[in-house]
Amino acid sequence: MSTLILGVSGVGDPILDRTGPALRQVFDAADPYLDSLARRPVLDPRSADLLAELDGPLPEAGEGAAAVTARLLRVGTAAATHSAGPRFFHFVVGGSTPAALAADWTTSLLDQNVVARASSAFATEVETVALRWLCELFRLPPPWGGALVASATYGNFTGLGCARHWWGERHGVDVTARGVAGLPPMPVLSGGYLHASARKALQMLGHGRDTAEIFAADPVGRVDLAALERRLAELAAPAVIVATAGEVNAGDFDPVGALADLAERYGAWLHVDGAFGLFAALSPRTAHLVRGVERAHSIAADGHKWLNVPYESGFAFLREPQRLATAFGMPGAAYLPDPADPRSGYGHLGPESSRRARSLPIYATLAGYGAEGYRAMVERHLDLAQRMARLVDEAPDLERLAEVPLNVICFRYRPRGVPEADLDDLNRRLGDALLADGRVVAGTTVYGGRVCLRPAITNWRTTEPDVDLFVAVVRELGARLPG
Ligand SMILES: Cc1ncc(COP(=O)(O)O)c(C=O)c1O
Repeated sequence: MSTLILGVSGVGDPILDRTGPALRQVFDAADPYLDSLARRPVLDPRSADLLAELDGPLPEAGEGAAAVTARLLRVGTAAATHSAGPRFFHFVVGGSTPAALAADWTTSLLDQNVVARASSAFATEVETVALRWLCELFRLPPPWGGALVASATYGNFTGLGCARHWWGERHGVDVTARGVAGLPPMPVLSGGYLHASARKALQMLGHGRDTAEIFAADPVGRVDLAALERRLAELAAPAVIVATAGEVNAGDFDPVGALADLAERYGAWLHVDGAFGLFAALSPRTAHLVRGVERAHSIAADGHKWLNVPYESGFAFLREPQRLATAFGMPGAAYLPDPADPRSGYGHLGPESSRRARSLPIYATLAGYGAEGYRAMVERHLDLAQRMARLVDEAPDLERLAEVPLNVICFRYRPRGVPEADLDDLNRRLGDALLADGRVVAGTTVYGGRVCLRPAITNWRTTEPDVDLFVAVVRELGARLPG
């Protein structure tokens, strides 16, 4: 085989490796793969051996797009975690709607850099419209605005980065220019639902993940409002409150409205981590769970969870969106438009500079299915979560550990006769057995000191039979575990 070299080898010569046939390979594989998701196991342990085929030394002579695409498709369609399908209940993972997936392919086709209007007026415009639609979807009235980021972790980073800028201002320092040296530690107050991702954001911002002060009223982490308020009064200084809307173990909510009251009373910044819980705003059945969120200063949420768009997709919303430019603007590169220049754009409004057009799948799925389509999907998931809760309650060997306000069902396997002291180990082994079995997938957590399962329902493809199968498989595998 002759060596493939990228580029035009001479005037008028074709580029030696062509794109169309490789894309056609992906296209031909797509439908059969997507159709198989409803039937196939989420994990196929027999496919693990295929992974070895990916390894090897860096090729000196390239094999070309057709060969490598064929290999990735062959191994990937077998050995990938089929979380795009309806029975992956682990973490909080959505799939991709048809409109979002097609737009994601378009994103790669057009390969835009959305750093500035000067680099892509098209994708800048799509992002602007997508952000406005998202604000409408989540009932965030003007002047709320924001930026698209890679994930809720980056949403937390962006929101807390703006909080830090605000806090520096209160101390008379532009921390974006001068850093935090010489300032006191930034007080960060939260209930016990604080997600590790918000801690990671604090860690990345240089505040330290362990500096967050936690005010929990009970072992599961419900916020102790009175204690948090006492601390605010004692501090008598600018502070940041982090509320969690949709905590990951049981889908519970901090009282956002009450925390907004405290933020207003004590002049604090309120950041809300609503990675998936912000979607409660879409249904009249759950909107009360996020009542008051529009009184926050910043909000983080995810697209790749409940919006069902491909990775990597997150949102940072700001009540004063102009603060994004002051906290994340990148002046001083002579070849780039400055933040104030109309040719500039989203590269100045968040942590990334060069960035892909992740707005296209968001725009497409919102245009494709509308607010009504998303409300219906969220409500279907609410119903499925209640169905799973009912199946758990009816099963003599399962014990539900928490209410189900949203889409997470927190329960453990508890057959008669097993002493409490052995239940954590039993449930850990059940979690391992689920992963090894692969028909359905969920993970374990520790809730109020007890090891349990916490399936989350977020995928647009999930149906009642998927939920029923999940409970049946949990009980079947539980019964097979050695005592
Ligand atoms: C409440 C909360 N915040 C943040 C995150 C982190 O999201 P991501 O992995 O998209 O950064 C999660 C993930 O499940 C979450 O549940």
